[in-house]
Amino acid sequence: MRLLLPAGETSRKAFYGGVLRHQVLAKRPIWTGSPTVVDGAERISFDPGAVLLVGLASFGLTSAADTSVIRVREGASFHVGGRVALQRGIRIVVDSGRLSIGNGTNLNGLGTKVLCAEAVTIGAGCTFSWEVQVLDNDFHAITVDGMQQPSTAPVVIGDRVWVGTRAVVLKGVTIGDGAVVAAGAVVNKDVPAGAVVAGVPAKVVGRADSWA
Ligand SMILES: CC(C)(COP(=O)(O)OP(=O)(O)OC[C@H]1O[C@@H](n2cnc3c(N)ncnc32)[C@H](O)[C@@H]1OP(=O)(O)O)[C@@H](O)C(=O)NCCC(=O)NCCS
Repeated sequence: MRLLLPAGETSRKAFYGGVLRHQVLAKRPIWTGSPTVVDGAERISFDPGAVLLVGLASFGLTSAADTSVIRVREGASFHVGGRVALQRGIRIVVDSGRLSIGNGTNLNGLGTKVLCAEAVTIGAGCTFSWEVQVLDNDFHAITVDGMQQPSTAPVVIGDRVWVGTRAVVLKGVTIGDGAVVAAGAVVNKDVPAGAVVAGVPAKVVGRADSWA
């Protein structure tokens, strides 16, 4: 099923208060505040009381013209584990496997992409900046000594993880609870809980007791 949804309520009150105007599908708590293409809405599942908020606030960087795309292809699934906010201009593409996002997580839009071919799990209370990319898939397979290397591996992002702008999280990575990924980092190895990582490839540069 493919839907191009009109813009709805866009105020901050709407974003925080949940006083929203558009429900995508009967029985599916997907609310939109700007144009949103949803392919495969029937493959999005929800915890009891969960809600998916798409493109509701501008945050100063976006406009109501920034279209969001959520695509969940046949055989794939996207699970919403609570109140999850996706900002304007986001791209969520689940070609296969399962994407799961936890309660209270906010993914900024404008170029942020979550691309899932096997499994991407994003915990609760996370914030991703704009232009972040998370991919569990190389999209091309490399052959070494006649052996094709795996091109997909699950990504697990814990709870309360902050990912800075233009960071890239690659296949097979686990990021621990409370970690901070600096702007522009390329994360290709596991990140310990509470670590601050930066650079290409990302290395631990510090610790974060908390972030707000
Ligand atoms: C990760 C971050 C929060 C760390 O800030 P901080 O605690 O003030 O850290 P510092 O600036 O003291 O940096 C600590 C070390 O990490 C390095 N570092 C920090 N950010 C870096 C980055 N993005 N790339 C490479 N190295 C970085 C610093 O050079 C420093 O190294 P040094 O000790 O060798 O000099 C900040 O650098 C950052 O990337 N913020 C992202 C902001 C963002 O994307 N916001 C979008 C809105 S959600």
